[in-house]
Amino acid sequence: MKILAIETSCDETAAAVLADAEPRPQILSNVVVSQIDIFAAFGGVIPEVAARSHLEAILPVIDRALADADCNWDSIDAIAVTHTPGLLGSLLIGTLAARTLAILHDKPLYAVHHLKSHIFASWLRDEPKPIAGSADSLDLEQFWQPPELPVLALVVSGGHTQIIVMKDYNDFEIVGTTRDDAVGECFDKIAKILGLPYPGGPAIANAAQGIFPSGRFADYDPSEPRPGDPFRYHLPHPHVADLDFSFSGLKTAVLRAVQSELGQPINFPSHQLAPLLSARQVADFAAGFEQTAADILTEKMVAALEKYPDTRSIVVAGGVSANQTLRHTLCERLADSVRICFPELKFTGDNGAMVGAAALFEIKNGVAPIDPYHLDIMPRSAIV
Ligand code: KG4
Ligand code: ZN
Repeated sequence: MKILAIETSCDETAAAVLADAEPRPQILSNVVVSQIDIFAAFGGVIPEVAARSHLEAILPVIDRALADADCNWDSIDAIAVTHTPGLLGSLLIGTLAARTLAILHDKPLYAVHHLKSHIFASWLRDEPKPIAGSADSLDLEQFWQPPELPVLALVVSGGHTQIIVMKDYNDFEIVGTTRDDAVGECFDKIAKILGLPYPGGPAIANAAQGIFPSGRFADYDPSEPRPGDPFRYHLPHPHVADLDFSFSGLKTAVLRAVQSELGQPINFPSHQLAPLLSARQVADFAAGFEQTAADILTEKMVAALEKYPDTRSIVVAGGVSANQTLRHTLCERLADSVRICFPELKFTGDNGAMVGAAALFEIKNGVAPIDPYHLDIMPRSAIV
């Protein structure tokens, strides 16, 4: 079976073709057109602009995914699309395209939950590439291991921070969630305070390594990056009951620490702070915040593992799972007790391949296709 998968829940227009294969779905193509360059100029996503960009990109992206996979409509058996959660206008473009194509080409249509697709990204591996000029190729099968059920998933994205128990391929239960901001949102907001571009996650990770956007610090020598000191500023850990999170206090704590470091009062406007900061201060704030966020997430995963001792694997999912400090901190604390699975970096952000993977697992587990005339979108909905 070959499936065309479409993803437009936020600011990436993506399509992929996957074949059902063992030991894992085979990726025949994976095309992602990002709108990051547009939104870097605005400092965040503008939903109406995102929807319009999806409208322009969606058909060329689908055509490209089919061409890269060497497929035409006769060789596609099904279509999958993200229908929840996400930005309303963005979801609308992807689902309308998928519904129309399903009707036009008479293909079964599968509706996929965005967070499930992020979780299934850990079941994907890109095929081994031959090493140029050598007879050897990386023997991927020797290293690749899929997550084992039951899974404890840490979903960390721009819109969500959740701990999810996954007992089976279609059995998900949210056991912890953020009570305010998502951790990715916190990265994005703190990046703004520090004068770093959108998206904030990669910008903060770079700044913590002493790497800044070109031209940001005139007196800074980029050939000698000086990593930040994560212990220079004390940032508090929130006390939140059970397996829940809170990140809005951490964002305010960084704001107050920056104001105090610069000798400014607490009513000093946050958008006027960045030009007053030195490269050293930005690197230290970025490193301190990144490590604190990683520690908070890791502490909750330690508690979650104690509460769910049958867990065979931890799966880290969503855009923030690309963060290397988070990966190291989780492994340091937990790798001796449980297998920890991270998606390949190219599958951490939004993409079509993970949507196809989720749909293929759902189809195998008896999930029925949805009527293309009646597929609804839901900007907010919990994983079930
Ligand atoms: O999953 P995703 O691509 O989109 C949503 O479903 O929200 O996640 C986007 C989020 C953004 O907040 C972005 O700043 C964050 O993931 N992010 C990172 C990194 N790369 C992306 N956060 C921390 N470190 C990174 N390397
Ligand atoms: Zn996402």
